[in-house]
Amino acid sequence: MFNFIAHNTTKIHFGKNQIAKLSKEVPKDARLLFVYGGGSIYKNGIYQQVKAALGDRFVIEFRGIEPNPKYSTVIEAVSVVKQNQIDFILAVGGGSVIDACKFIAAASQFEGEDPWDICAKQVRISQALPLGVVLTLPATGSETNTTSIITRGNHKLPFMSPKVRPVFAILDPEATYSLSPRQLGNGVVDAFVHTMEQYLTYPVNAAISDRFAESILLTLIEEGPRVLDDEPDYDNRANIMWSATQALSGLIACGVPQDWSTHMIGHELTALYNIDHARTLSLILPSVMRVCRESKREKLIQYAQRVWNLQDENEDNLIEEAINLTEIFFSNMGLPVRLSEVNLDENNFDEIILNLKKHGMTKLGEHGSLDIEKIRSVLSHSI
Ligand code: NZQ
Ligand code: ZN
Repeated sequence: MFNFIAHNTTKIHFGKNQIAKLSKEVPKDARLLFVYGGGSIYKNGIYQQVKAALGDRFVIEFRGIEPNPKYSTVIEAVSVVKQNQIDFILAVGGGSVIDACKFIAAASQFEGEDPWDICAKQVRISQALPLGVVLTLPATGSETNTTSIITRGNHKLPFMSPKVRPVFAILDPEATYSLSPRQLGNGVVDAFVHTMEQYLTYPVNAAISDRFAESILLTLIEEGPRVLDDEPDYDNRANIMWSATQALSGLIACGVPQDWSTHMIGHELTALYNIDHARTLSLILPSVMRVCRESKREKLIQYAQRVWNLQDENEDNLIEEAINLTEIFFSNMGLPVRLSEVNLDENNFDEIILNLKKHGMTKLGEHGSLDIEKIRSVLSHSI
């Protein structure tokens, strides 16, 4: 097992009626920026719950964070922070709103010349405003982690800093009842792939992290399809929500190697063709499994046996069957597994690879061995 540091400081309020806890978690004298997306929170009553909990605090609202948050939008919010001496940020939404708020929290305190350097040059963040979260979409894990991903033109770039980890996160499974089947499916698959990026590498005898990861995968396989039922079930939503948070809270990363090649290739598909984040992952992960089947062999066999409960003396059959079942699971969740389903083909490969090169993403994977040639092969396997 590798050495590791575990340090997740986000206080979580999980369960029904927890949005009311904002009244305790946000300081009474805070000058608050309340940030949200396109307006789903008006329709499902979350806006009203947040306003009621905030009472008569000083609040400025910032509406309009789009999916895959844009640099131009977050920079606008940074100006609002500066003009109004904001000292606390509240994100109410999914990964996009939370990621946007992480950037706003850091950029409003940034002393360098160009805040885009936070993403483009990975400039270290020395301070950021405190951030609280009300989560409305279980998927990214952004509610307790240190990552944010911002898009500028066709550049979709992450930054990471412990300074932007949310101080608290409110997770009410009932807040997910208004999600569309598309967003629910996306969320389950994003959480599944986060788990795989930290699990499907090579064995290092990290038994606890492996078992934690397998428990998340098994829960998502079991509970995932039921999330698409017409009537929402509270415990189903609660289990999905907690799985998604723990898939990227740092817990399952303890002591293990990590891959992240599917995400890096996927980010380029979103940046270039505006495909939903999770849908890029369902397209790419099965092909990464196929192209890397030798370097991931032992973990692929473990995955086949422990997650899909497969038994076959022929290891190659075992691996192929596990990859096929992964694809079927993604399809059952309503996500694409072939590039043709999103109108892409080999004519797009050069453009995708050019963007990866621009972003220095040419040695991906846990061994840094997924080079341009292999990435092209991954894309070909997804046709
Ligand atoms: O904007 P509104 O009107 O709120 O609508 C949103 C949005 O259109 C809607 N929605 C959210 N909660 C809802 C709801 N609709 C009805 N009822 C609710 N309760 O869902 C749409 C998508 O929201 P978005 O926040 O974009 O989705 P998601 O949570 O999947 O976030 C995706 C973003 O997170 C990044 C992705 O790259 C992408 O930019 N990621 C962030 C990560 C991190 N910080 O650790 C890791 C991930 O791998 C991911 O890359
Ligand atoms: Zn993701």
